[in-house]
This record gives sequence, C-alpha cells and structure tokens, in this order.
Amino acid sequence: MTLLEVDRVVVRFGGVVAVNEATFEADRGQVTGLIGPNGAGKTTCFNVISGLQKPTKGKVRFKGRSITSLPVHRRARRGIGRTFQRLEAFGSLTVRDNVRVAHDIHAGLTGLVRPSSADVEALLDRVGIWDYATERADSIPTGAARLLELARCLACDPELLLLDEPSSGLDESESDAFGALLRELADEGRAILMVEHDMDLVMSVCDEIHVLDFGAVIATGSPAQIRADDGVQRAYLGYSDVDDPTTEIAPITGALTAPSTAAATEVQA
Ligand SMILES: Nc1ncnc2c1ncn2[C@@H]1O[C@H](COP(=O)(O)OP(=O)(O)O)[C@@H](O)[C@H]1O
Ligand SMILES: [Mg+2]
Repeated sequence: MTLLEVDRVVVRFGGVVAVNEATFEADRGQVTGLIGPNGAGKTTCFNVISGLQKPTKGKVRFKGRSITSLPVHRRARRGIGRTFQRLEAFGSLTVRDNVRVAHDIHAGLTGLVRPSSADVEALLDRVGIWDYATERADSIPTGAARLLELARCLACDPELLLLDEPSSGLDESESDAFGALLRELADEGRAILMVEHDMDLVMSVCDEIHVLDFGAVIATGSPAQIRADDGVQRAYLGYSDVDDPTTEIAPITGALTAPSTAAATEVQA
C-alpha cells in the first residue's frame, strides 16, 4: 500500500486555481520530488497534505485511509511531519530548546519515558547544527535554520516528511551532506516528499519526481525521464514552442530559480 496518496486535489482561492486535479504519491524508502515554477501550487499541496488547507475537491490518503478531514495535530500523530518554506522556528528559544520542545511533546503523546537530552543532542549532531545548539534560533544563518526545522520535524519521528525548499541557504558542501542525509532517512523506511529548486540536489537524490505547473501534474518519472521531458523544459523555461528547431533548450541543471511565469490559472468565477 502506498503511504501517501494525493487524489485529484483541487484548491481554489476565489478565482485562482492554485491546485488543479493534482494526483501523485509518495512512498516509504523513497525520496520523491515535487518541483515546478514559482506559483505552481507546491506549498499549497503541502498545506493540503498536512491539514493547513482544506481542498476544494479531492482526497488525501495516508496508509490507505482518508485523512482529508482530519485536523493538523491528528495528521502529525499519525506520522506526518513537515518543514516550512518560511521558517517557523521559535525565534527566542535556543536551537537545542526548539528541538527539545518538539521531542517532549512527541514523547508526551507517545508515552516515551526516557529523558530527551541524548535524543536531542543526537538529532542536532545528525543534521549538522550541533555548533549552534546554544544560540537563539533567530540568530543563526538561514541554512542552519532550515536544518533546525528538519531536526525538529525528526524529533517527532515522522513516517512521512514534507520538506519545503529545505536546501535554500545551504552552500554546496552542506547541500551534498544534506542529500546524503535524505538518502539515509529514506533508507530507514521513511517517505520523503521534497519541494526543491536546487536541480542538482533533486536530480541526484530523488527516486521519483512529480512536476507541477499551474497547479496540475504535467509529468511524473525518474530524474532522467523528467530531465528529458519537453513539457517540463517548457514549464521551466517559458518557451512557447519547444518543437521549433531554432529554439535551443538548455538542460535543466544547477540551482534553477524558475521564472514566475506560472502565476496560478485565473478562471472566470
Ligand atoms: N492563501 C492564499 N490565498 C490566495 N492565493 C494563494 C494563497 N496561497 C497561495 N496562493 C496562490 O496560489 C498559487 C500557488 O501558490 P503556492 O502553492 O505558494 O506555489 P509554489 O509553492 O509552487 O510557489 C499562487 O498563485 C499563489 O499566489
Ligand atoms: Mg512554495
């Protein structure tokens, strides 16, 4: 059974269709990419999966059961964790205490009795932010703050991790280490669904990629299939006619900042 199934989800904000009949999956042991230009609906999909946004239509299933109308905290208890594109750490707490809070809440809910210190230190070390442990969360670099969000998410031992642009702010070697960590987390049997603009990272670490454009899934496949897909190139690069032999199409590569051509589709109300 597939761990996460997003089934024909639609999200409308007034006349704006942010997500348009999107269907995709993420499964245990895999890193799944959700990519697409700015405004394509990626964060809105994460909000629907984690329960912050009610879909206009469609269903979300987790472990085979519909979670479409469950509140956020019950989805979290079932094993869904997420990080935020706009960082959401507790700014006035230390890095260590941010992770400790998550750990202790999770421990309280699950009846775990052992003290948190060793687990928290291990998590800080695992994601590579132990050096920042005693600093206030609002004083650390953005890359480290993203890793803090990941550590906090892992403190709740999620089966599914939703990571929204986790590598922005990381330098190249940090990004490589981050890719290796994602692989490890997947190899532990977790499912990782990641929104990410760093195409080198996406192409090297993802098992499968779904591409969103104007809220709709326009392609699903392996990194090699996605790289070779004309529709994907068009969505990212904004060409109106990829079949035009005079149009040279650059391969998707590098830290691509997608053009904001895909403001969501306007429909007549
Ligand atoms: N709460 C909201 N109210 C109105 N429009 C929204 C809201 N959230 C997102 N949108 C719009 O929905 C579209 C998709 O946004 P988003 O999911 O953030 O895209 P992405 O994460 O792919 O960049 C955009 O056009 C955005 O302006
Ligand atoms: Mg987003």
